[in-house]
Amino acid sequence: MKTPDVVTAVSGLRARVEDWRREGLRVALVPTMGALHEGHLSLVAAARKRAARTVVSIFVNPAQFAPHEDFDRYPRDLGRDCAYLAAQGLSDLVFSPEHDELYPQGFATRIEMAGPAVGLETDFRPHFFAGVATVVAKLLIAARPHVAMLGEKDYQQLLVVRRLARDLGLDVEIAGAPIVREPSGLALSSRNDYLGPLDRPVAERLNVVLAELVQSLREGESIAEVEQFGREALRLAGFDQVDYVTVRDAATLAKAEKPVAPMRVLAAARIGVVRLIDNMAV
Ligand code: PAF
Repeated sequence: MKTPDVVTAVSGLRARVEDWRREGLRVALVPTMGALHEGHLSLVAAARKRAARTVVSIFVNPAQFAPHEDFDRYPRDLGRDCAYLAAQGLSDLVFSPEHDELYPQGFATRIEMAGPAVGLETDFRPHFFAGVATVVAKLLIAARPHVAMLGEKDYQQLLVVRRLARDLGLDVEIAGAPIVREPSGLALSSRNDYLGPLDRPVAERLNVVLAELVQSLREGESIAEVEQFGREALRLAGFDQVDYVTVRDAATLAKAEKPVAPMRVLAAARIGVVRLIDNMAV
């Protein structure tokens, strides 16, 4: 059990990281919005393998939520999150800023991105990546880590943040960690808590369908057929709306007419108001 210290000010975060850097220690940042689960702990564990010190940021970023989305009801419990990190014992510092610390009065900057931010999530959540890019840039500039860990569950986000760091010349490695799944295969997500008992069996079909699509692609089915089959399979499974089922170039997310290696199958679908995303390597 090692309880991480908590700082709320960027100045406090910087001072700690600067001390570690002076000692020659590598520092990792795991950016999160809290409501931590095993998936986050796996990011912390992966971070720990790459760095001697690990900072976990916890901030529910309003800029990445649209007005109709779940910003107000997004679960927030800093005490629980810190206890969870303490039990794991691999985090050194939690950075948990108040809103004004990251977005002071008069804040007027927004990072709009093209490249991997075009399409997929952006088609359904147009505000999302500008909000993510803006806050992640702020976190990376504030923490100055050597490496930042992001989960492959939000695969497009991982590529967006990697592009952001390159484009802004931030001296940081953006590393991805594999998706952590429940025994049913459902990818862990803080939003799984919104699923009712009747929604769960539907939600648990998402990964099964994706695995079938991966198998079909490996057996030589065409991308168009696989995508069409995936959409139908999710509707039949009970999803109320299928936002996308698509096969993309894993490095760029460009749409491939023919199979190219490596590829990724990505899907987003809704059960009522709960929106789930998942993806798998082909
Ligand atoms: O994936 C998340 O939890 C968030 O999008 C992130 C990267 C912490 C930015 O707010």
